[in-house]
Amino acid sequence: MHLSAYSGCLPKVASNTTVFENSNVTDKEAQTVSRQANYSFAICDLSSELMRATKNISFTSLKQLGIRRSEAANADLISFNPLSKTFKLKGKNMEYVMHVDPKTSDLVNVHWGKSGDKPFPLSKYKKMANSSWQSEMDVIPREFPDAGRGDNRTPAIQISTPEGITTSQFEYKGHEIIQGKPELDGLPSLYGDKDKAQTLKVRMYDKAADLELELFYTVFKDKDVICRSSRVINKSDKPVSIEKIASISADFPPDDYKIMKLSGNWANERQEEVVDLKPGNFSISSRFGASGHEHNPYLALYSDKTTEDKGNANAFSLVYSGSFSAEAEQNREKCTRIVMGLNPQAFRWKLEPGKSFQTPECVGVYSSDGLNGLTEQLHHTFKDNLIRSEWKDKERPVLLNTWEASYFWFNHDKIVDMAKEAKKIGAELVVLDDGWFGKKYKRNWDRCGLGDWETNTGKLPKGLNGLADDVTKLDLKFGLWVEPEMVSPKSELYEKHPDWVISQPKRDKTQMRHQLVLDMSKKEVQDYVIDSMSKILDGANIEYIKWDMNRSMTEVGSNALPPDRQMETQHRYMQGLYRVLDTLTKKYPHVLWEGCASGGGRFDPGMLQYFPQIWTSDNTDPLDRLNIQAGTARVYPPIAMGAHVSKSPNPITKRKTDLEFRFDSAMSAGNMGLELDPRKMSRQEKELAKEKIEFYKEVRPVIQNGEYHQLRSPFGKNWSAVQYTKDDASEAVAFAFQKQKQEGGYVPPIKLAGLKENELYKVNDQPEPLSGKRLMSAGIIPKFSKDNDSEVYHIKQVG
Ligand code: GLA
Repeated sequence: MHLSAYSGCLPKVASNTTVFENSNVTDKEAQTVSRQANYSFAICDLSSELMRATKNISFTSLKQLGIRRSEAANADLISFNPLSKTFKLKGKNMEYVMHVDPKTSDLVNVHWGKSGDKPFPLSKYKKMANSSWQSEMDVIPREFPDAGRGDNRTPAIQISTPEGITTSQFEYKGHEIIQGKPELDGLPSLYGDKDKAQTLKVRMYDKAADLELELFYTVFKDKDVICRSSRVINKSDKPVSIEKIASISADFPPDDYKIMKLSGNWANERQEEVVDLKPGNFSISSRFGASGHEHNPYLALYSDKTTEDKGNANAFSLVYSGSFSAEAEQNREKCTRIVMGLNPQAFRWKLEPGKSFQTPECVGVYSSDGLNGLTEQLHHTFKDNLIRSEWKDKERPVLLNTWEASYFWFNHDKIVDMAKEAKKIGAELVVLDDGWFGKKYKRNWDRCGLGDWETNTGKLPKGLNGLADDVTKLDLKFGLWVEPEMVSPKSELYEKHPDWVISQPKRDKTQMRHQLVLDMSKKEVQDYVIDSMSKILDGANIEYIKWDMNRSMTEVGSNALPPDRQMETQHRYMQGLYRVLDTLTKKYPHVLWEGCASGGGRFDPGMLQYFPQIWTSDNTDPLDRLNIQAGTARVYPPIAMGAHVSKSPNPITKRKTDLEFRFDSAMSAGNMGLELDPRKMSRQEKELAKEKIEFYKEVRPVIQNGEYHQLRSPFGKNWSAVQYTKDDASEAVAFAFQKQKQEGGYVPPIKLAGLKENELYKVNDQPEPLSGKRLMSAGIIPKFSKDNDSEVYHIKQVG
């Protein structure tokens, strides 16, 4: 398409979109277009190399375009230079620059870092290809690398066509700039208003395979975040197989890099682990249908000179709850490529002619303030641009969950009695956990009943409705546990629909926790779940739901799909699940939804879109929780983290801890609740609990909606501390912990953060106020005296 056509097509496109089609742009035409379309780009930012690359266009001719530095400063978040075919995307402090290679029409990354920082020159990359065995493709930083045409690093896309094409060659064809952040169809995604976010859609085309590829990039005015995803459209008349397609691929210049990942297992989720990258391929993944306990869909990449507070760092967080893979590949020159998206070992997609495939999206973050800068950006992005619930900024109620208090053994009166006692100490919501349902197969243990979402009237003679009413009468909210994605083989649902489960022909169905996974890729299963959950929510005054999911997938397959589409099952399951969650959370917007997957087995941004809080771990041991909570808060806002005070000895670790430590540890995570039988607490315990809950409610606005500072990480350390600060720095709460008592040992001071240097603050009931400067430089020395000890500081500005 030529320029006249370009100008002509502008009005036909939605008014919030600007379109550019690739063409042989002449210097003169570009001037006209640039003025007409009011494109602005910074002349000063074009490297001399790029200038040469754009057919020797001189500085003077760029100047003739009449674009001044001042205009560049006020430029949109996304600008395009039609002469050098360079895109510049700006965040708050970062910029992301890429250009179309004039020889290959490939999209090449120029810079992702601090605005104004000098990029690593392309010429230096090119020099790295120094033998006939290595092409330039193998060394230059590419935006969406393909496989098999000279770039031997891990690809972002791999296809296979019926004619036998297994390579791809996507070339730039055009682009659109869209105001705001469009939602992804059927997948969770960030959102952003037109005045705060812009999205670039770059269109690439592979002639031989007749495939179009759309690359999406969104930047936000007030953040250093770039949100990316990709979409393939089959323009040919034959089906194409997508073997691998990433959400993001990013190449970084040579450096000594470290990776931080959040890994663990059940009851030990999201432990921070740091790895020194070496040449070769490093990866984390899940393959079993959930993001999982083992590895969170998150990676941070940073130079070994970067610290918690200083230096460049990047993070990648995938907005997806199923199987994923995150690769970090480093070459001999220490250039590093990150590729993140659906796990190719659990995915393949047959794309019919005319159809498209959209990947999940990945949140890419840049920080020049070290690792803490990444955390700050992620917390704000998830709070401002991901979580959609009405409860997003609302203070969360102190809940009592009945699971560890009574497991499957309860009845109406027991729950009401527990509620009465919980109310006395300050609880605001009572949640009935597993065990309340099943008529033919009563859920009195974990071997039956899942799928039969009807009240067991033996336990609850007044029904859920009657129980909810009796709890609500006590001026408490009532909440309920469900596990809708599962079915027990011993259930009426399975007897009626044995074909509704994930399975493969001729294979035994592996049971885990005596249950099977429903095939959520099937519309009738999705509708069954929507209907049965709606009946529950319509039938009683339920203000909170805990949505659990307690096993991974095995023998993955769907009898609704033909043999050549079986590898689509996992992703189709996720699409089905997201449809169900979208429908239910929109239908019941006032309900506070909490996600759970055997604790924190699906604590990811995909779930966060629907569930504003997630059960962090089945492990409620306050000591273990310090690490689990700190690891989780690296990425996720503390308000999203369920943290409960449970009994001692702890049911999982058998460790004995005192009640004060249990309260302080839970409170320090952000969203505190109880997971014990209040009837069994002694008078002194109840008094302490009441006092602690009262204090928590006082500081809850600061903890849940203030700024999070990890003052001292608990990983590998005996002493840790965390602080929450009110936006205007007039109030803060800090928690300090000691794991083990050390005789005569030195306890390091807790140096506070984010206060106003010259203002005076009172710490707890200390008579003498201290300056913000002193609290941040000299700090506070905790007076620890025993193993598992804690101190809490309430810091208030004086006057
Ligand atoms: C999972 C959850 C627990 C509890 C049980 C009930 O393990 O993580 O919190 O709800 O299921 O069966």
